[in-house]
Amino acid sequence: MKITVINGTEKHGVTYRMKEMFLEEFKNDAEITEYYLPKDCPNFCVGCTTCFLKDEHLCKDAEYIQRIERSLLEADLLVFTSPAYVFHATGAMKAMLDHFGYRWMPHRPAKEMFGKRAVIITQCLGSGAKPTAKDIKDSLSWWGVTAIKTISFKLMADIDWNKIDEKKKEGFRKKLTSLAKKMHRVDYSRPASAGLMAKAKFMVVRMLQTSLGKQDPEYTDYKYWKENGWIDKVRPWK
Ligand SMILES: Cc1cc2nc3c(=O)[nH]c(=O)nc-3n(C[C@H](O)[C@H](O)[C@H](O)COP(=O)(O)O)c2cc1C
Repeated sequence: MKITVINGTEKHGVTYRMKEMFLEEFKNDAEITEYYLPKDCPNFCVGCTTCFLKDEHLCKDAEYIQRIERSLLEADLLVFTSPAYVFHATGAMKAMLDHFGYRWMPHRPAKEMFGKRAVIITQCLGSGAKPTAKDIKDSLSWWGVTAIKTISFKLMADIDWNKIDEKKKEGFRKKLTSLAKKMHRVDYSRPASAGLMAKAKFMVVRMLQTSLGKQDPEYTDYKYWKENGWIDKVRPWK
C-alpha cells in the first residue's frame, strides 16, 4: 500500500514523534512518501485565481503543488499532521491547503479522492488541537475524501519531547498504535463508502454547474464536470 504524509511542521518535535509512532505499524509493508511544510510548498497563494479560471498548471507554484497532488492521488492512505498554532493548523499547512482550493467540490474535485481514507494527527499544549484537525478536515472533506479519522492530543506537559515523561509518551503510543492497527486492517482494494454528506454536496454542486454551463458552456469548472460525465449520469464514487 502507499501512504502519503503531509507534515505541517519541519520540526522533529512532538508532532513528528507522534507521526512516527503512527507509521511504525506500516514500516514493513507500505511505501511511504513524506512532505514537510513549508519546505515542500514554500510559497503563499497570492489569489491570482488562475487555477480556478484557467488551469492549475499555470500556477506560479505548480511545480510544488502538482508534485504533492500526484502523491496524494496515488496514495491509499493520506496522513496529515499539525501542532496547534494559536488554535489552528500551522500557517505552512494553511498555505498548502489554500493552493488546493481548485480541488474543492464546487470547482474541480479529483475523482480519485472519493473513496479515499485519511488520518489527521494534531496536538497542542492545552487547547486547540481539535480546531486544528478541523482546519485540515474541512479541506479533505470538500476534496471529496469520505473516510477521515482524526486523533488529537493535549500534552498538558512540557512541549519539549525529551522532557515529557515516559508514562505520558506510552499513553500517546497506545492510542496511535491502536488507530494505526485499525487503518492497517482496511482492505484498500475497495474504496471507502462515499457517504451521504459527500453525495449531497456533490449533487448540490452538480445543479450549480449545470446552471453555470447554461450561461457559459466554456466555463472551466463546468467543462471539467461535463468531461467527467458528472453533469450526466457518471458519479465519482463506486
Ligand atoms: C506559534 C505557536 C503557537 C502555539 N499555539 C498553541 C495554542 O494555541 N494552544 C496550545 O495548546 N498550544 C500551542 N502551541 C504549542 C504547540 O501546539 C505544540 O504543542 C508545540 O509546539 C510542540 O509541538 P512540536 O514539537 O511539534 O512543535 C503553540 C506553539 C507555537 C510554536
